Parts: sequence; C-alpha cells; structure tokens
Amino acid sequence: MTYEQRKLVIENIKGVAAVIEQTTLDYRQNLNQLKPRYVVHGDDWREGVQQKTRQQVIDTLAQWGGELVEVSYTQGISSSQIKEEIKRVGTTPNTRLSMLKRLLMVKDIVRVNEVHHGLSGLITENAVATRDGRPVHFDAMWSSSLTDSTAKGKPDIEAVDMTSRMQSVNDIFDVTTLPLIFDADTGGRVEHFRFTVRSLERLGVSALVIEDKTGLKRNSQFGTEVSQTQDSIENFQIKIAAGKDAQVTTDFMIVARIESLILNLGMEDALNRAAAYIAAGADVIMIHSRQQRPDEIFELCQRYHQAPSTVPLMVVPSSFNSVTEEEWINRGVSIVTYANHMLRSAYPAMKKVAESILHHGRALEADPDCMPIKEILELIPGDQ
Ligand code: SPV
Ligand code: MG
Repeated sequence: MTYEQRKLVIENIKGVAAVIEQTTLDYRQNLNQLKPRYVVHGDDWREGVQQKTRQQVIDTLAQWGGELVEVSYTQGISSSQIKEEIKRVGTTPNTRLSMLKRLLMVKDIVRVNEVHHGLSGLITENAVATRDGRPVHFDAMWSSSLTDSTAKGKPDIEAVDMTSRMQSVNDIFDVTTLPLIFDADTGGRVEHFRFTVRSLERLGVSALVIEDKTGLKRNSQFGTEVSQTQDSIENFQIKIAAGKDAQVTTDFMIVARIESLILNLGMEDALNRAAAYIAAGADVIMIHSRQQRPDEIFELCQRYHQAPSTVPLMVVPSSFNSVTEEEWINRGVSIVTYANHMLRSAYPAMKKVAESILHHGRALEADPDCMPIKEILELIPGDQ
C-alpha cells in the first residue's frame, strides 16, 4: 500500500485521533512536538540496530515524565514470510509496474540485477545474503540488451528484434514478481518508439532506458574503439517526449541514458544533456562511463546534484565496480544496476564443463562443477 492508503486505513481505526507522518528514523522531533504521556512500541527493538533509537525515545520522554510501553513482538510473523506468500500468489502487470516508482520513494538505493531468462530471473528474485546483520535482496531486474543478445549468440547491435526481446521478458515474468527495467537501446525511430512504450507497459515493465545514440548501435563498453554516433539533443528530446506522451499509466518511467562520457565528449556535454532530457520529461537519468576508476562518474554525480532541477540518478558500474552501494547512496545515486553478471558468470562455468567432457571422453570429471541431479530436480517447484 502507498503511504496515502495506509494513512487512510489507520485514520479509520476507532480511537485514532490523528496520523502523524514520521519521515526520519529519529523519533525525537515528533516526540518534542507532541510531548506524549505514553509511547507504545514492539519490544523487538531492544536488540539490534534500533537500540540507539529506543534509548533516545526513553531519554526524551523522561523530560516530561512520559513512559515507554513495550508490547511483545508477535513471533512467527516476518516480512520475509509475507514476501514468500506474495511470491507464491504471483502478481499482476499493474502491481509489478507500479512497484519501481514506489521503491524509489522509500529506498536509499534500488538494487537491480541482470536477467536474461526465467532461471536467472528466479535466481535474482530468490537470492538473499546477510550484510551488517540484515538480509539483503535484489529489488528489481534489468533486461540487458547485451546479455539477452549474447544468450542468443548474437551481437549487441539491436539485431535481436523487439518481439524476441519481449518474449524473453514474458518468460521472466512467468516465474517472478520483481519489477523490471528494460534496456531499449536507442529506442529506434520515434514513430516506432511509441509502440515499444505501449507494449512494454502492457506487459507490466516498470521503466525503459533509451540511450542517446543513433545509427548502428554498438555496446558502450567499446567506447570510441568503434564508430558510434551520439544523437542530437533536440532529436533525443523529441524521442523522450514521444515516449512520455505514449505511456498510459502514471507509474511507467522513461530513463534517459547519456553516452557523452563513453564517447569522450566531456562532462559539460553530459550535464547539458541531463538538463535538456529532464526538461523533455525524463523520469530518471542514467549516466554511463567505462572508466575503471570512478573519479569521472563521481564528479558527474556531484555536479549533477548542483543543478536546479534533478530526477533520480542511475548508474551501471560494470567497469567502475569497486564502489560500494553505501558510497553510491552518499553520492546521490538512486538506482544501481549490475548489468551482466548472471550471464558472465554462467559462461565460464559452462565452457569449463564442455571442455572437460571433450578432454576426458566422459562426464565424470566435470561432475564436481555441476549441481547434483537431485538439486536440479528440486530447484523449480513443480518439477518433482
Ligand atoms: C546492457 O547491459 O546491455 C547495457 C549496459 O546497455 S552496457 O553493456 O554497459 O552498455
Ligand atoms: Mg544495452
């Protein structure tokens, strides 16, 4: 539910006089304003990261003799359980579509992982790790033109047509619930782009990215080693505006991707373009770089945020991969996309096993590099 919806629900509970917005993790400002006699909170904050906040509440209440009442936390209810249940039930195109905008509103950073088929979608949706004592998940998926093409054995030059790209998304949507950002390359001709927006939106895709290149598109990681042409600011503005005009929902987003740094055209050009694309209606700006060191992109982030009008910033740290998410948050980045790692990790694993079978004339030696048959049978629900 959105904040507005939750507010409405709580306001309608008998005994609730007012709902007051809590915009920070620090309760002191609201407490000082209300000077409540009692504060009621679940006792699960006695341990862990909220301990400090709890002590601040106790100290603040003490100034006017207020009291903290702690109710015992309901065992067996967890957000992970709710998430599991949602995954089991599935989702609808509209719910999935609107999720990305809401994540952008509530999260410090939206963490996106590349997917190129149902299985990489499932891995991305179910992957969990512990960081600083908390479970961490991916928030969204990235349909990469590079890996969708590579998985089909084709180059990343818009040779895999839109029908095929959308079929990949459909396969991924069949088995996942996470929102998806679609890499739409240059977006093609303006006249065609309108249809792309409509088709992706109907599928339940949350956002698409178009890059400001024209003619035969080559992958950005080639930089200036191959000939690549940047579109004019005016043409690209027309494309962005056409996309915004074509979308049906208010939640669908168009990400304008700036290739100035990739093409060595300089920081000024990148910043000018950001302003122009925002003026044309871009919901998010993606700035790309292929430098190993993050200095260039850091400077861009800093100068970008000095502009009078900004929208969320997205980065794809394939080359400048030493930067942590925490650092991106501090630099004002809202979306971080790991754009090709599922495919890049699968390829060496498959190649190694194929060569081992050829070398030994049997599969025995390759077996330790393969998941057990039993595990693969149990991996996908419904296989057993
Ligand atoms: C992709 O993943 O297809 C991208 C990002 O567009 S990059 O490959 O870095 O250009
Ligand atoms: Mg691409």
